[in-house]
Amino acid sequence: MRGAGGRTAYRELRLSRVDILGRMPSPHDVLAPAVSAAIAAAFGEDYRGADPVLRPSQFADLQANAALPLAKRLGMPPRQVAERIVAELDVTGVCDRVEISGPGFVNLTLSNEWIAGAVEGMARDGRLGVPLQVQQVIPIDYSAPNVAKEMHVGHLRTTVVGDALARTLEHLGHRVIRQNHIGDWGTPFGMLVEHFLEVGEGSQEARLAETDPNAFYAAAREKFDQSAEFAERARARVVALQAGDPETLHWWETLLAASKRYFNRIYSTLGVTLTDADLAGESTYNAELAGICAELEARGLAVVSDGALCVFLDEFTGREGKPVPLIIRKSDGGYGYATTDLATIRYRVSQLGADRVLYVVGAPQALHFQMVWATARLAGWLPDDVEVVHVQIGNVLGPDKKILRTREGVALKLMALLEEGIAKARDYVDAARPDLPEQARAEIARQVGIGAIKYADLSVAHDSAYVFDLDRMLSLTGDTGPYMQYAAARVRSIFRSAGVDPGAGPAGSAGADSGAEVGADSGGVPRSVVITEPAERALALHLVAFGSVVAQVGDALEPHRLCGYLYELAALFSSFYESCPVLKAEGSVRKSRLALAALTLGVLEQGLALLGVETPQEM
Ligand code: ARG
Repeated sequence: MRGAGGRTAYRELRLSRVDILGRMPSPHDVLAPAVSAAIAAAFGEDYRGADPVLRPSQFADLQANAALPLAKRLGMPPRQVAERIVAELDVTGVCDRVEISGPGFVNLTLSNEWIAGAVEGMARDGRLGVPLQVQQVIPIDYSAPNVAKEMHVGHLRTTVVGDALARTLEHLGHRVIRQNHIGDWGTPFGMLVEHFLEVGEGSQEARLAETDPNAFYAAAREKFDQSAEFAERARARVVALQAGDPETLHWWETLLAASKRYFNRIYSTLGVTLTDADLAGESTYNAELAGICAELEARGLAVVSDGALCVFLDEFTGREGKPVPLIIRKSDGGYGYATTDLATIRYRVSQLGADRVLYVVGAPQALHFQMVWATARLAGWLPDDVEVVHVQIGNVLGPDKKILRTREGVALKLMALLEEGIAKARDYVDAARPDLPEQARAEIARQVGIGAIKYADLSVAHDSAYVFDLDRMLSLTGDTGPYMQYAAARVRSIFRSAGVDPGAGPAGSAGADSGAEVGADSGGVPRSVVITEPAERALALHLVAFGSVVAQVGDALEPHRLCGYLYELAALFSSFYESCPVLKAEGSVRKSRLALAALTLGVLEQGLALLGVETPQEM
């Protein structure tokens, strides 16, 4: 079987997203054209456009490795090629050291003045150097829990990762359309509606649909298994539901409303941006399913096999090379998951006008999506210039390294897990900050507890598995949410001590795309930066990379890169703060260090906001 689990096939169709409307030049942006120009000047017009092969360097800030591939083409020793490039290289005002090393690497060391200027530019820029990209329309399918079922930790992860991607892509200038494809249709709804009617709206048992969906489901299931008469009624209810019987639809909607209240409680506890307006559940596509099947059949793309309507795709074969069918209409005439997903992709392309479509869904569904999209491409519903990506979500494991489903033998309830996280954070806050009023401590505990869970989810690659361990997530040391929040709060406290306002908070939470001017003159933070100490230099250079890291997250759809960047930023700030006194410094040095601190705070807060992690003002 080819293509299973692989996301490469569709990656090849990637569009160019490098079209940038405006952003601050990074060291790379400045040095790449300079090296290219030197190559052309040294070896003639034929060599214009040669790749400067700029890479991070161990011995300098960047190194240009172009001399090695060029040496072959020129038939010249690489060191000599490097010498000729350097002779033509004009990096005045950017680098203060250019050296040839090894076989012909050109090591480039940025001048402290250039770095200081870049930092100042970043402080002036309301977007902190994050580019505004040419806008794409990007529907993102994420969260997608199932009605009358408990959300599980897998849903937690798609919700958290999807929301971080939505926030980041929006901040980069894209039009994100959130699509919450909830499971709100299918045969179980006959049984669920019938049970709901029997216990009566408003009853204790009916309330379970909202407070303990699994218990509600289990009760319905038990009746179904135990009473032939109930099972009969449940089946008749499915038929009535599918036929659009108004009364049945009414009760189905009532049940749905209970589930939505449950989802919304989880969403608001998590602080994710999904609202009812983003719901586009399976049922939304009901009216299209027959037409999809008819069209595929009429065009010879689907054939009846053993009574079921199937699409056979050459590239998907199982054992012994037998083709695996994509079943789009079951032999009993019902439609399943594959057909609704053909509808989702068709709708997102033709109605939403998508340039790029993301499905943030569990990794085991990779083959399903590959087959659905291959079919949609054949049918012409998914043109080549629309990119579709399965952002694969890895498993969340328990301490036994198996998929986390139960705790102490009891089915896991997501809400209880979130509440436990908040309660543990509360213990910490109560101990650390007895001076704060009750309400403030409760709010910090919520931000820290939820931030810890979200950050743990985001800081590992979205397609790898991780062990759910609240104690580790809540640790104040290591790459955790609380550590990052604490790092930001600590910088804030420096400003409190200094009596200076560090500037406005982050932009880019739900829907907001206006940049806050962090490190601006508001409240007196100066922008003029002077770099002398190595720790200042390292911090400044890292700060300047923020914009390109955010762009990479949007491009590769990997929030963990932003976590890694922020973690390193916190560490660099710590070293800076240890070796470079801020409050005790004087004059222009103090001003410059305050400017670096303000920018660090701005980047930490903005970065965490893009991840959907809140930052308490103090901890
Ligand atoms: N409801 C599904 C589940 O719980 C996820 C749906 C994902 N989205 C989609 N378009 N198939 O596994």
